[in-house]
Amino acid sequence: MTSQPLANLRILLGVSGGIAAYKAAELTRRLRDAGADVQVVLTANATRFVGPLTFQALSGHPVRAGLWDEAAEAAMGHIELARWAQRILIAPASADVIARLAHGIADDLLTTLCLASAAPLAVAPAMNLRMWAHAATQANVAMLRSRDVAVLGPAGGPMAEPESGPGRLLEPHQIVAGLAALHGPKPLTGLRVLVSAGPTCEDIDPVRFIGNRSSGRMGFAIARAAAEQGAAVHLVAGPVHLPTPAGVVREDVRNARQMRDAVMQQIPQCDIFVAAAAVGDYRPAEVAAHKLKKTGKALVLELTENPDIVAEVAARKKKPFVAGFAAETERVEARARSKLERKGLDLIAANRVGNGTGFDAEDNELTLLWSGGKEQLQRADKLALAHRLLERIAALRAKPAKAHRQ
Ligand code: PMT
Repeated sequence: MTSQPLANLRILLGVSGGIAAYKAAELTRRLRDAGADVQVVLTANATRFVGPLTFQALSGHPVRAGLWDEAAEAAMGHIELARWAQRILIAPASADVIARLAHGIADDLLTTLCLASAAPLAVAPAMNLRMWAHAATQANVAMLRSRDVAVLGPAGGPMAEPESGPGRLLEPHQIVAGLAALHGPKPLTGLRVLVSAGPTCEDIDPVRFIGNRSSGRMGFAIARAAAEQGAAVHLVAGPVHLPTPAGVVREDVRNARQMRDAVMQQIPQCDIFVAAAAVGDYRPAEVAAHKLKKTGKALVLELTENPDIVAEVAARKKKPFVAGFAAETERVEARARSKLERKGLDLIAANRVGNGTGFDAEDNELTLLWSGGKEQLQRADKLALAHRLLERIAALRAKPAKAHRQ
């Protein structure tokens, strides 16, 4: 990546209301330090938290705060401003602004500019954790993502209220890095990434199966992030109801043996394998041809062990970089490190699961472990974590070769 991917880029920074608005002042300074030309637009609510003069001093441009400011319109009309922008970044983006953007409502200067501009849009959400988790906000965010709007964060951790959870604005340096990653060179260009995602279903009879709570979100986020970082991505997915990320080749499977075959077929062609699937460790020894009937007695199912896909890949002589996951309910780090060693992986991403965490949630918290190293990724949405995981993988691959293909 060049040292200044944002150099000379004309960025329109939209600031919406919320206590995190004060961080937008430092963000303005950091964007300028990164070489960008920045103009700031405040929503009416943002002006209650930080004054326009602060942003004027930091950006070196007059600040716009309303659609009906005649003097400002005479200096640069809002349509001209929309054309001036090469990127639009809204930070902090409140639940209200996200909702208005999702529905194409243009009832103030900032939302009007977003509709009138062809510039790529990025939003850095900041709001109360329950507002972030609300189905309406999540649906609005999904709608924005489906229109290729980049969503940076939010981060987890303590909020202004005495609560803790996802909803915090990312730190200004993280937002600048996120924007640079979106618009800078793509670090995985030319690489082939294989991702496994979702659960496996092991049939008992034609109507019943043994499965697990994996929704596929983590693996699909990794596939999307890898494609966003320039990789050619093949995704092997267990039975899930998720749309295929743009630019990703998807192969659907049902059970562990099918997943193993699909993965093994791709391994010779891939540079990085990320095993995010929750593969069933066992399957019924026999699948009944017809629906099992009640007998009035206890039913004993004999289970056979499934192949360990990630361990089989890691045991190959010629192998890609192999990253596994560890889903644990207790002694998470110790168990994950032992899996890293036992399965011969290059990296393992440990997550605590159960009681609504890890599985089937929008966000997650990961501890990345590798031989002699560790990185803690704070609670964030799965796409943000996926980008960080891939950055760590790229950094480890760049180190002098172990056994994996370079
Ligand atoms: O899908 P989501 O709802 O988003 O949830 C995400 C997740 C919790 C499923 C994900 O983050 C995760 O932890 N995936 C791995 C789940 C798992 O099976 O963990 P494990 O500790 O049992 O397995 C360790 C590793 O071995 C994993 O990389 C797994 O893919 C692999 N494995 C396990 C068994 C097996 N037979 N073959 C394997 O390859």
